[in-house]
Amino acid sequence: MRCLTLLAAFLGAASAAPSVSIRATNGWTVARPGTIKDVVVTKENTLNGTSQARETVITSAKGAGLDSRAIGGSLPLEFVNNFDGGSVNAYVVGLDSDNRVVFVRGDGSLVYPSSGGSQVPVPIGANVAIPLPGKGQTFRMTLPIVLTSGRIYFSEGTLTFSVVATPIGEGIVQPAPTNLQDPSAGTNWGFVELTYTTDKSLWANISYVDFVGMILSMALSVSDGSGTQITRGLGRGSVDAICNGLSSQASSDGWPWNRMCVANAQGKPLRVLSPNDYAVIDSGAFGSYWSGYVDEVWNRYSSRDLTINTQTGAGNVACRVSGGTMNCGGDNRGYGKPSATDIWGCNGGPFLRQGGDNDVHIAVIPRLCAAFVRSTLLLDGGDVQPSLSSDNYYTADPTNHYSRLVHDNEIDGRGYAFPYDDVNPDGHGDSSGLVHSGAPKTLTVYVGAPPP
Ligand SMILES: *[C@@H]1O[C@H](CO)[C@@H](O)[C@H](O)[C@H]1NC(C)=O
Ligand SMILES: *[C@@H]1O[C@H](CO)[C@@H](O)[C@H](O)[C@H]1NC(C)=O
Repeated sequence: MRCLTLLAAFLGAASAAPSVSIRATNGWTVARPGTIKDVVVTKENTLNGTSQARETVITSAKGAGLDSRAIGGSLPLEFVNNFDGGSVNAYVVGLDSDNRVVFVRGDGSLVYPSSGGSQVPVPIGANVAIPLPGKGQTFRMTLPIVLTSGRIYFSEGTLTFSVVATPIGEGIVQPAPTNLQDPSAGTNWGFVELTYTTDKSLWANISYVDFVGMILSMALSVSDGSGTQITRGLGRGSVDAICNGLSSQASSDGWPWNRMCVANAQGKPLRVLSPNDYAVIDSGAFGSYWSGYVDEVWNRYSSRDLTINTQTGAGNVACRVSGGTMNCGGDNRGYGKPSATDIWGCNGGPFLRQGGDNDVHIAVIPRLCAAFVRSTLLLDGGDVQPSLSSDNYYTADPTNHYSRLVHDNEIDGRGYAFPYDDVNPDGHGDSSGLVHSGAPKTLTVYVGAPPP
């Protein structure tokens, strides 16, 4: 009995080990890639389709072939290899018009993977990688079907995708940045997201809300004369630059910013996790980081108004702290003090939306959270939110130094570094990494460095 208890305790410790991060001497977190047994199925890393397939189905490159349920499309894609390292693969994955998970291969053939009913992830029994030609060259293909919740992944070397049976069909399990033992954890990878609808409209975006990985940029040319849209995102070498910036920040304020940098076994930085994603690995790391600031904000706005410009028909609303709660005019409920994780994710504690929240509440959440993330609430003029220009963001401590460093390394200021990066004073430009057109001609993705 005692032996069993000890064994159970030992096994418990061993299986808990993946969450304990191993650190390099400079404090960066080291990825320890495992095998398919180390894949963890979560809401965040799965794409679940509706129908179950007894076995993997591969359609021919010419048209829909075996597959008559997928609505056709025709979107030229170009992948430009600007990457300095080893060989690069692309992977195109998403849901077809019948909501089935599908990989599109470079020749236009479609792979519908099957788990064979397995409740644990199994390897995808077909090669779904699209090898890119060498640096300086461009790969061209056509996306032959409409695709929603789509992603185009790029990686130095290969990525591991798996498939699992879900209650409603097949689920693709994708690389997970927050699992340090994911089989792809030691690989440099990233993705752009896209949706290509039945009316042939395209939305594509790059985001740094979760992490920064392989450097990717996009250009969308269009056929309606409205001009090519470009999202350059981060410049070449930004992962190193952000990791070095986080290390300097950790040395100066003693908070573990450097741990958000994930390196491979050789110590080379692969990606940077946002504080919100880092909290999945180590939820207590920034426990009291914001407490003093939150207290000061609560003090300040107990004796004067914080004005939130809702940028809606409700206009400006006045907010005041009383009895520990901030209340805003016309709002259906108040706001308690946020914790560090509430501020990183903008969707917990006082920033959690509930059914029945009114328009004022729904407008205050993003504006109040953005003001915390950017630390503008105690600055001169910070009593009206949003109102200060972006050169005031991240100028006071504490702040979100990940977001600061991401924006410092962005070439054209585009690409969200936290969920409500679209909050800006009236009349300020779009900082999302989105390209969109109802008349898309070609979507070009630049891998490793943006176009000039
Ligand atoms: C997909 O299905 C799996 C297995 O049932 C589940 O754990 C996961 O949360 C689902 N993903 C989403 C995004 O709902
Ligand atoms: C980015 O694209 C994905 C897929 O189209 C979409 O689900 C997501 O909402 C988009 N995000 C933004 C900020 O546009």
